[in-house]
Amino acid sequence: MEIKKVCVLGAGLMGSGIAQVCAQAGYQVAMRDIEQRFIDGGMNMIKKNLGRSVEKGKMPQDEMDAILGRLNPTLDMKEAAADADLVVEVIIEVMDIKKKVYAELEEIVPDHCLFFTNTSGLSITELASITKRPEKFIGAHFFNPVPVMRLLEIIKGYETSEETLEIAKEWGKKLGKEVIVVNEAPAFAVNRILCPMLNEAFYVLGEGVASAEDIDKGMVLGCNHPIGPLALSDLVGLDILLHVMEGLHEEFGDKYQPAPLLRKLVRAERYGRKSGKGVYDYSKK
Ligand code: CAA
Repeated sequence: MEIKKVCVLGAGLMGSGIAQVCAQAGYQVAMRDIEQRFIDGGMNMIKKNLGRSVEKGKMPQDEMDAILGRLNPTLDMKEAAADADLVVEVIIEVMDIKKKVYAELEEIVPDHCLFFTNTSGLSITELASITKRPEKFIGAHFFNPVPVMRLLEIIKGYETSEETLEIAKEWGKKLGKEVIVVNEAPAFAVNRILCPMLNEAFYVLGEGVASAEDIDKGMVLGCNHPIGPLALSDLVGLDILLHVMEGLHEEFGDKYQPAPLLRKLVRAERYGRKSGKGVYDYSKK
């Protein structure tokens, strides 16, 4: 099956990044969200990213214009999905909301349309079971910032067909990503390893073992990580990290208990870079 049109549901940090790399790979892309301000925010991020490449001489202006020409930002679900070959769902990580969106989608998309979800931790098999096409459903987990990070983690649900898997792998390659395939499991492979490490940094900070700056410096200089765990948590979003940890805790027990400080910061609505404050303060930069 040839994919020509991709519909991306969600214009946030991840959704707009996915829409950008799809348009860069030559696909027609509809990027849909529920409020104009989210659409505007997503389009501004894409224009900023592409503009930076043009300024650095890495992309000619006419290529940027062509990429933007392939992107259709819209509030209208029918316009976005009616002729889509592939829907990439990047909406809020709440099962009931996702269920409603998939039910709405089923009434709109053509029969051949595939559903890819970018969830960070919800069960692919459970999400697929909501739909009438579990064999055409797969996890496509991108990493933040999407245009920069080379990995695409593809997650097979229980009913995902081999055909869908092959299409997903080809699509990932066309987007310029390296693909790994993992089986359905809580938090998949990368977040299962990464998120407990980030969570541990909040224990270390909360117990007063070291300052935030020194924890991050320690992991950058001592382990050659490109960015410290607390700064990375701010990039990922503390709410997302807490959500993944809660999922792991529920599935596997106490070993994965979210750090109290992480909970406290989320309750204070310090979600990280996206809200202006997380472990660090970005509001003045
Ligand atoms: N969007 C697009 N491009 C960006 C960007 C962004 N938000 N931030 C940086 N870049 C680009 C820059 O333009 C620059 O591009 P060029 O090489 O073409 O000039 C390049 O990335 C490097 O940027 P900088 O020199 O400004 O900064 P840096 O060297 O500190 O790199 C970083 C920034 C790439 C984010 C780096 O800190 C890094 O790799 N961090 C780790 C990121 C990571 O681990 N992500 C995974 C998070 S987990 C996840 O996403 C999954 C989940 O479900 C929780």
